[in-house]
Amino acid sequence: MRPVLCNYYVTYRCNATCSFCDIWERPSPLVDLADVTQNLDDLRRLGVRVIDFTGGEPLLHPQLPDLLALAKERGFLTTVTTNGLLYPKRAKQLAGLVDLLHFSIDSSVPEEHNASRGVRCFDKLMASIETALALGEHPDLLFTVTNDNVHRLPEIYEHISYPNRLLLILNPLFAYNDLGGTLRAEVMQTMQAFARKPYTYLNPAFLSLRQAGGNDPAAPVCKAVSTSVVISPFNELVLPCYHLGLETLPINGGLYDLWHSDAVAHHRAMEGRHAACAGCTINCYFEPSFATSPGTPYFWQSLPSKVRYGWTKFLVQRLRTKVRGPRTAQLPDFDGPAFPAGDGASEMIDLPVLR
Ligand SMILES: C[S@@+](CC[C@H](N)C(=O)[O-])C[C@H]1O[C@@H](n2cnc3c(N)ncnc32)[C@H](O)[C@@H]1O
Ligand code: SF4
Ligand code: SF4
Repeated sequence: MRPVLCNYYVTYRCNATCSFCDIWERPSPLVDLADVTQNLDDLRRLGVRVIDFTGGEPLLHPQLPDLLALAKERGFLTTVTTNGLLYPKRAKQLAGLVDLLHFSIDSSVPEEHNASRGVRCFDKLMASIETALALGEHPDLLFTVTNDNVHRLPEIYEHISYPNRLLLILNPLFAYNDLGGTLRAEVMQTMQAFARKPYTYLNPAFLSLRQAGGNDPAAPVCKAVSTSVVISPFNELVLPCYHLGLETLPINGGLYDLWHSDAVAHHRAMEGRHAACAGCTINCYFEPSFATSPGTPYFWQSLPSKVRYGWTKFLVQRLRTKVRGPRTAQLPDFDGPAFPAGDGASEMIDLPVLR
């Protein structure tokens, strides 16, 4: 099977310290442009279609627009998820280069969002929405749903996403390395009911997997290695997935050959079969796993949500912008703290850490 997706970690550095994530704790370089160029050529040969430039916080990479341009030139679909801290300053450089842009949101209440992210960033998130809309972009709001914030769904939808006709992605919390956690049954029911509304997206197979107890190493659903190429900021292949990270193999300009090596074949044979894979529900790998498992219930459960997402994203939103032009954001009036002016990533490192 040819991999479809590359999770390209441009750095593990982050300007936030979210409670359900530990990536920000890892010391890390920034990926090198020449390495990325070489790897993108190899990823194309491998059949990859989507490059997710991720992190850490991908907007901390000063050359992110160049990386995206390289990917676009090679015909990849590009995706970036950001906490929004740097987006207002970098938006013009990024405009037109990100096919699927996501802004992370954890609450409609500024203090709650800031507490979850560990930094005061809610007002930057709102500014990011304003800026993106003014530039004709259609960012999705990626709401990581937990037992503690699920009750904020209606407010986020009614006050932030729907008035701006932005897609609200319901991203169920997953557990790894003693972080994150599981969702209560009634929380999943709430999500499922909510996702019938227009301009929302939830892959119901994520919830079915949770109800089934997650991945079973004896009969794995996970196809992390078959479907996803994970590249670290150190220019290594990470196997079998970022979160388990059992082995890292230096790429050294030879990604194509490395992908066809015995070491990768071993990890492919073992994907989802490790003891630590029991109960796994890490969305990043199950989304492509479901999509490439035709004939399974997870595939059929995923399909309608994918079609609905594609319809809204690539037809409805684009047509609206074509007909009406860029939108002016409609956002609630929050009294957030004022932020200092400036234009570099470095100032963000000094943001007050709340925990
Ligand atoms: C790892 S972050 C990287 C991009 C960027 N730093 C951000 O937060 O938007 C990508 C997305 O994963 C989400 N995420 C992180 N840890 C998670 C977890 N344990 N369960 C579910 N989603 C998680 C984040 O909220 C974010 O929306
Ligand atoms: S902003 Fe993203 S990478 Fe940074 S700590 Fe939060 S979830 Fe992790
Ligand atoms: S089941 Fe989870 S931990 Fe195991 S390889 Fe797949 S994504 Fe990684």
